[in-house]
Amino acid sequence: NLSGLDLRAEIERLRKERNAVILAHYYQKPELQDLADFVGDSLELSRKAAETDAEVIAFCGVKFMAETAKILSPNKIVVLPDVEAGCSLEDSCPPEKFAAFRAAHPDHIALTYINCSTEVKALSDIIVTSSSAETILSQIPADQKIIFGPDRHLGGYLSRKFNREMLLWPGVCIVHEAFSETELLKLKAQHPGAPIAAHPECPPTIIDHADYVGSTSGILQFAKTMPGDTLIVATEPHIIHQMEKAVPNKTFIGAPGADGNCNCNICPYMALNTMEKLYIALRDLAPRIEIDEQLRLDAKKSLDAMLAMAS
Ligand code: 13P
Ligand code: SF4
Repeated sequence: NLSGLDLRAEIERLRKERNAVILAHYYQKPELQDLADFVGDSLELSRKAAETDAEVIAFCGVKFMAETAKILSPNKIVVLPDVEAGCSLEDSCPPEKFAAFRAAHPDHIALTYINCSTEVKALSDIIVTSSSAETILSQIPADQKIIFGPDRHLGGYLSRKFNREMLLWPGVCIVHEAFSETELLKLKAQHPGAPIAAHPECPPTIIDHADYVGSTSGILQFAKTMPGDTLIVATEPHIIHQMEKAVPNKTFIGAPGADGNCNCNICPYMALNTMEKLYIALRDLAPRIEIDEQLRLDAKKSLDAMLAMAS
């Protein structure tokens, strides 16, 4: 029974006792973001995990992120507050099917979004995140054929922007897929002149209206530097917490789903992590991420390729 415990103080105590670092993604609950040693996008979190000298990484994010931390820092204990914190993109891409897809296109390289399982990373050539995809794609020779998975919207966005055909795996992020173009246009009409910032996991019906398209960190940077005082944010709404902290005098409005509000765009996987579960994870050093060593080494190659090519 955790009632009566000062969770914040207990987490502080355990963080020191365990020599732990708490990493959090921008889609986590505000109280978890505020406790974290570092909050960032997928690329920044991978880099932090690779370079930390803490003994324990408590990862407030989803499973593929915690697994990435373990792949890059195998000697650390990596805990994920809720092991059920998955991702619809990872679920869309079972390794056997992805292996068959690759085998059917032997002259293609696999450029793969980090939102996938360790097995799919091991079957890939280069991993990308939304903040590194453009830099990496621009380094791949124009005549090289490419498979891009599992996010067809990010793949489609890159394809259009670079005028470059890629074979797309048909996965989507259920969160970004839920934004409604009709409701977005209604909201825009209510806030004339307010720019729209969108994550490239959004469908083209949303991206087409965006003034800025980029990763969570990119969107946060745009919020800090944009002209005007109101921004419509077409990504998971928990990132608004960091925007309000960084620029308290501006107004940030989450883009709506079909029901006209932004609550349906909360990531149900990210939302599984709570203060209680983070406390238990630090107390018990579980649930722990464990990866077979050969699989880890295979997956690390494509992640190392990303880290070398991302600026
Ligand atoms: P980034 O933070 O890298 O933009 O990723 C967004 C996302 O959907 C993570 O699951
Ligand atoms: Fe996966 Fe989308 Fe949730 Fe990110 S927001 S973890 S891509 S389901």
